[in-house]
Amino acid sequence: MLDRAREFDGADPLAKYRDRFELPAGVIYLDGNSLGKLPKDTPARLERVVRQEWGQDLIRSWNSAGWIDMPQRVGAKIAPLIGARPNEVIACDSTSVNLFKLISAALAMRSGRKVVLSEPGNFPTDLYMIEGLERQGIANRRLAPREQLAKALDEDVALLLLTHAHYKTGEVFDMAALTRAAHEAGALVLWDLSHSGGALPVQLNECDADFAVGCGYKYFNGGPGAPAYAYVAERHLPDLQQPLTGWFGHKAPFAFSDDYEAAPGIEKLLCGTPPILGLAALEVGVDLIAEIGVDRLHEKSKALSEFFRACLQAQGVNLDLVSPTDPDARGSQLSFRHREAYAICQALIARGVIGDFRDPDILRLGFAPAYLRFEDIAEAARHLAEVLGSGEWQRAEFRQRAAVT
Ligand SMILES: Cc1ncc(COP(=O)(O)O)c(C=O)c1O
Repeated sequence: MLDRAREFDGADPLAKYRDRFELPAGVIYLDGNSLGKLPKDTPARLERVVRQEWGQDLIRSWNSAGWIDMPQRVGAKIAPLIGARPNEVIACDSTSVNLFKLISAALAMRSGRKVVLSEPGNFPTDLYMIEGLERQGIANRRLAPREQLAKALDEDVALLLLTHAHYKTGEVFDMAALTRAAHEAGALVLWDLSHSGGALPVQLNECDADFAVGCGYKYFNGGPGAPAYAYVAERHLPDLQQPLTGWFGHKAPFAFSDDYEAAPGIEKLLCGTPPILGLAALEVGVDLIAEIGVDRLHEKSKALSEFFRACLQAQGVNLDLVSPTDPDARGSQLSFRHREAYAICQALIARGVIGDFRDPDILRLGFAPAYLRFEDIAEAARHLAEVLGSGEWQRAEFRQRAAVT
């Protein structure tokens, strides 16, 4: 398989981008769906922001270096990558905080309806944020398995909140169909794009989506704790009211008025002072993904994950795949169910093959195509086959649970 892998790498139009990322020796990184790699341009950009813009220019940089517009500027760069207009996306806060703002805003726009519908097993923070609003008496949480979602959309539902590509299985929802179904029931829709943005083609405008959120530290390579992004369809911007009425969302923050008046556009989603270092790092990651192009990344990610499956098969490894077998029906990942997934994952990490484990029994391998070679995939499959075949995962050290899995 290694020969075939090298042939594929030789013909890969994205191969040249690998060198734009820091490549730690001896590591095959299959976790870009959790924390993306460091782009090589990021340290220099941060050095400039820290030493020159902060160190020398100090507070003048809010104007002279354009700090003040960074959330809008980075948001506008993310917009075309998720099928949105530049004025509909802003980079700010965490995904969780953006969920809070947009769930609350959606509920306020559907007075008389309190139900926020989602699916059991959605990413915990999405479910927890609904629960928090339920405790405040604003929302009622309703969960329905994905095949019953359309039926659960009744006249009480204010908002349908779903994660486009499931964090565990990678299964992708039909965004257009579910958005249509929600609208027909009089509900709004909020899509969590954390596992799609920068990896899969997303068409928010074309699907008529109302709201979306997503992480900056996964496929956008913005770094640990990078700011997230939020999307509001242009048609909702004039009326949207978000609950975190901090001064940066004010229409004139530097008028220092006693009374809150929301900004007219997407900047009304801001709350406090934007994290400039985080935004600067995120901008480098977003620029790089935009340069490569999401469609090309998606094509390569499908080829990588299919090649991984072929490599496993060639070595007689038969694992229980919980991701869809159709590469078009899944995100940029393959997840396998195994009782000993945690120990297997640790044994792989000890060999330099970094994937992750999702409780209770999922080994999750991400295929971020910007920096992975087919050769890495063949090697990762060989390591997995050896770990399983030798029983090496049974070593006691691989059963020690760390805080982050
Ligand atoms: C689908 C999904 N939503 C939200 C989050 C969490 O976002 P944050 O930590 O930025 O609040 C994650 C993190 O992995 C995720 O996978």
